[in-house]
Amino acid sequence: MEDLLKTFKQSTNNTGSLTFIEAQRDVPFEIKRVYYIYNVAGNARRGFHAHRELKQFLICISGSCSVDLNDGTTTRTVRLQDPNIGVYVGPKMWHEMYDFAEGTVLLVLASGYYSEPDYIRNYEEFLQFVKSE
Ligand code: TYD
Repeated sequence: MEDLLKTFKQSTNNTGSLTFIEAQRDVPFEIKRVYYIYNVAGNARRGFHAHRELKQFLICISGSCSVDLNDGTTTRTVRLQDPNIGVYVGPKMWHEMYDFAEGTVLLVLASGYYSEPDYIRNYEEFLQFVKSE
């Protein structure tokens, strides 16, 4: 699995930090949707799906969480804990998020509008889909 972590540009001075992300420049897609996950219980696990076409970047803009990324062959775990580092979750990548610190806000930049048919929520179906491509 190639390196999926990206450090975004940041402007920091003695008053604080500012991170900026431009579509098609800093992320490899046009951003059509932004959503964020918060108020997550420390023992909760989310995700458990892959997408057929959707491309996303996950960024913990506050707090921290772990993400398992599985391409059907290899599983990689990343810990998101820096507001200017994101992880790319492309199509055909089974992902699960867990170990959320209290107060975490996980920001997601997505290449498409919400579409339930783009989700693969069954792991066996995911493995079949990866193999068939
Ligand atoms: P889901 O993607 O399953 O969340 P997670 O992967 O974090 O467990 O989404 C949870 C619910 O929210 C699901 O019923 C669909 C709905 N939803 C939308 O309506 N629009 C959206 O943009 C997203 C991301 C989810």
